[in-house]
Amino acid sequence: MDKINRNDLCWCGSGKKYKKCHMEQDEFITKLEAKVGYEIPRESIKSEEDIEGIRKSCKLTHEILDMVGERIKAGITTEEINKWVHDYTVEHGAYPAPLGYHGFPKSTCVSVNEVVCHGIPSEDKILKDGDIVNVDVTCILDGYYGDSNRTYIIGNASKEAEDLVRVAKECLDLGIEQVKPYNTLGDIGYAIQSHAESHGYSVVYDYGGHGIGNEFHEEPFVPHLGKKGEGMILLPNMVFTIEPMINVGKPETTVLEDEWTAITTDGALSAQWEHTIRVTEKGYEILT
Ligand code: MF3
Ligand code: CO
Ligand code: CO
Repeated sequence: MDKINRNDLCWCGSGKKYKKCHMEQDEFITKLEAKVGYEIPRESIKSEEDIEGIRKSCKLTHEILDMVGERIKAGITTEEINKWVHDYTVEHGAYPAPLGYHGFPKSTCVSVNEVVCHGIPSEDKILKDGDIVNVDVTCILDGYYGDSNRTYIIGNASKEAEDLVRVAKECLDLGIEQVKPYNTLGDIGYAIQSHAESHGYSVVYDYGGHGIGNEFHEEPFVPHLGKKGEGMILLPNMVFTIEPMINVGKPETTVLEDEWTAITTDGALSAQWEHTIRVTEKGYEILT
């Protein structure tokens, strides 16, 4: 960024003078950067106006996942889920972010059993009793993104599957509990990794959470493993996702020939849960 003077218009586009807008925050972050020794991605700190927009998009994402939860059952295809998500999103004035994203062909990701993430809905994939099915929904509403996923259990699943889905959700919740100003991304990763490993599970490292808001995937990358106190420091009004993928077996993943579907390399089960989170003055707000 070129040097900006106190009487210039603020870089954020608010139309206000810099000194009345982001100047104080920028000075604060510059000092903090000197202390911590790395750059803090400023786009990850959102304005009140942007947060309100993200909140609305996230609320719609939450509703869509509720709708999917009411309808999902054995015998349907993953393409039917895609249609439900697509139609509901569009009917509510939003656009499904996955559709066309780097060439992704569908409006939601549906990942069954050993599929870790980015499963492509298909008319050939019929859900059966005992499957665990992750549905990942991202809306764009008025230009703002909201991203969340849940893993649904179809009918009666094995104890192995039920336990995995429950512990993966606990991993997300424990990660979220670490969100507060001056904690770090490493605190989140540590909480997730230690809980998963205490159950004998592994944590996927090939994919992570991400900053979100005005774009689908923004800085920072949010690892689901880590050490306490390491990684980027959290500040009020940062918005990012936490979305741990937890495996029964080994953590390695393989992408299929469709160039999207990521499966566990060992073929064992994987489960995931995701929320979009805002850092508040004291802790966190779950936006989805
Ligand atoms: N929703 C996924 C995430 O949580 C990203 C999906 S990208 C897509 O980050 F292209 F596969 F849709
Ligand atoms: Co995400
Ligand atoms: Co997602």
